[in-house]
Amino acid sequence: MKSAVKTAFLCSGCGNDFPKWHGQCPACNEWGTLSEFKISKRSKKTVSENRRKPASLTEILYKQSTERFSAKLQEVDRVLGGGLLKGSVILLGGSPGIGKSTLALQIVVGCGVPSLFVSAEESEDQVAMRAKRLNIQSDDLQISGENQIERILEHISLLKPELVIIDSIQTVFSMGIDSLPGSPTQIRESGQQLLQMAKQRGVSVIIIGHVTKEGVIAGPKMLEHMVDTVLYLEGDGRYDHRILRCVKNRFGATNEVGIFMMDEKGLLEVSNPSELFLEERSTNVAGTAIYPSLEGTRPILVEVQALVSAANFGTPQRNVNGFDYRRLSMLLAVLEKRMKIIMGTRDVFVNLVGGLKVNDPAADLGIISAVASSALEKAIPPDFVLIGEVGLAGEVRSVGQLKKRLKEAKALGFTQALIPHSGKRSIKPLPKGLTVRPVSTVQEAFNILF
Ligand SMILES: Nc1ncnc2c1ncn2[C@@H]1O[C@H](COP(=O)(O)OP(=O)(O)O)[C@@H](O)[C@H]1O
Ligand SMILES: [Mg+2]
Repeated sequence: MKSAVKTAFLCSGCGNDFPKWHGQCPACNEWGTLSEFKISKRSKKTVSENRRKPASLTEILYKQSTERFSAKLQEVDRVLGGGLLKGSVILLGGSPGIGKSTLALQIVVGCGVPSLFVSAEESEDQVAMRAKRLNIQSDDLQISGENQIERILEHISLLKPELVIIDSIQTVFSMGIDSLPGSPTQIRESGQQLLQMAKQRGVSVIIIGHVTKEGVIAGPKMLEHMVDTVLYLEGDGRYDHRILRCVKNRFGATNEVGIFMMDEKGLLEVSNPSELFLEERSTNVAGTAIYPSLEGTRPILVEVQALVSAANFGTPQRNVNGFDYRRLSMLLAVLEKRMKIIMGTRDVFVNLVGGLKVNDPAADLGIISAVASSALEKAIPPDFVLIGEVGLAGEVRSVGQLKKRLKEAKALGFTQALIPHSGKRSIKPLPKGLTVRPVSTVQEAFNILF
C-alpha cells in the first residue's frame, strides 16, 4: 500500500513546491533554497473539502462587505485606508521589541468587536499584564495561548470573533506538516488556513510576523502575496518614535505612514510629526537642509544631513539612510559635472533624520543642497525649506502637492521656500508670511543659499 505521507520540496524564497529536488529553484532561480517536507493525507483532504462554488458577480457584489472597524487610532486607520476592513488579512511585521504585540493589543481593544488574541509567543498572563500596563480593558477580548493552527481554527469557530490576532505566525504550526514551527512550510500552511478561514467567515485577521536581518518578514515571500495588506512597524533604537508603514494594500493607498511614540503606556499617536522630526535640529551648521516630504496625504518636514569629507583610502564611500542610493549617486554626478564641486575624491554620508524613508523626487533639491553645503562648509539659512526634483542637466523640475508642503513649512515657522519655477502658478494665492523663491536650476538655488 502507498504511504499516507507525501514528500515534496519547498522553496523558502518563493514558496513554490516541487515533486523533485533541484539545486536551483525552477520558479525563482535562487540556489539552495529547496528543502524537503512531508504533507500527510489529512491536510490534503482539508483543501479538497473546502471546494467553493462559483457565484455571480451581482451576488458577490451584494454580499461584499465594505464595513470597516475603526481602531480608534487615527494613525492606524489612515494607514489602512480608513480602518480595518471586515474579512481582510493583515500582516504586521517588525523586529523584536519594536512594539508589534503592543500595537496589536491597542488595535484590538480600539476596534471594540468580539476578538480573539492568539498569543503563542507569550503566555496569557503576559498579555494580560501588558493590557494592565497600557491601562486597557475589554470584555470583548479573549486570549489564547494555543499554537496549533487546527485548534486555533476550532476556537475561532466556537467563539465566532470578528477580529483575530495571531502573535506570531512563526510560532504557529500545523499537525499535518512534518517540520518545525517557523519553517517556510509551516508558515505557508498556517497562513493559508487563516486566509481561507478569514475569507469564508468574514473575520479580519492580523498576523504578526518577525523580520529577518535584511528587514523582510521571515518565511516564504508568498505569505506577503497571500495577505491583503502588509504593514511594517519600524523604528530606530536611538529614538522612541515608531513608524507604521504600509507596503501593500488591496483596499487603500500604500504610501501612508503612521507615527507613534513608544511609552510605558503603549504607542502614543503623534499628530504633528514635523515638530517631532525637527526637535533636535541643528541650525547654522553646514550640511543640513529642510525638505517638506509628503507621506501619503500628509506633509512631514524632514531634516536632511550630509557630511562630505576627504576620502583617505581608495574608493570614496557613499552612505545613505532613508533615500535611494542610486539617486544620490546621480545627484553627486550633477554636483560634480554641472556645479563643478569635486565629489570623486570625497566620502559622502547622507542621513534623513528620524528614520524616515522617502521615495520622493521632491527631496532632490534638499539633498543636493545639503551635500553642497557640507562640501562648501557654508550653512543654509535656517528659515529655508527646499523643494524640487533635480534633472541631469542641473535643472529644477516641478513636484506634486506643492501647496500642501508649503502650508506645513509655514505652520512650522519657516519663512522662505525654494520651489521649482514651474510650480509658481499652482500655489496662488501665495501663503502669507512665506517668501517663495522660484528657481529653474540648481545654480540659481545655490546663488540664493550660499
Ligand atoms: N514596563 C515597560 N515600560 C515601558 N516600556 C515598556 C515596558 N515593557 C515593554 N516596554 C516597551 O515595549 C517594547 C516591547 O513591545 P512589544 O509589543 O512586546 O514588541 P514586539 O511584540 O514587537 O516584540 C519594548 O521594547 C519597550 O520599548
Ligand atoms: Mg511580541
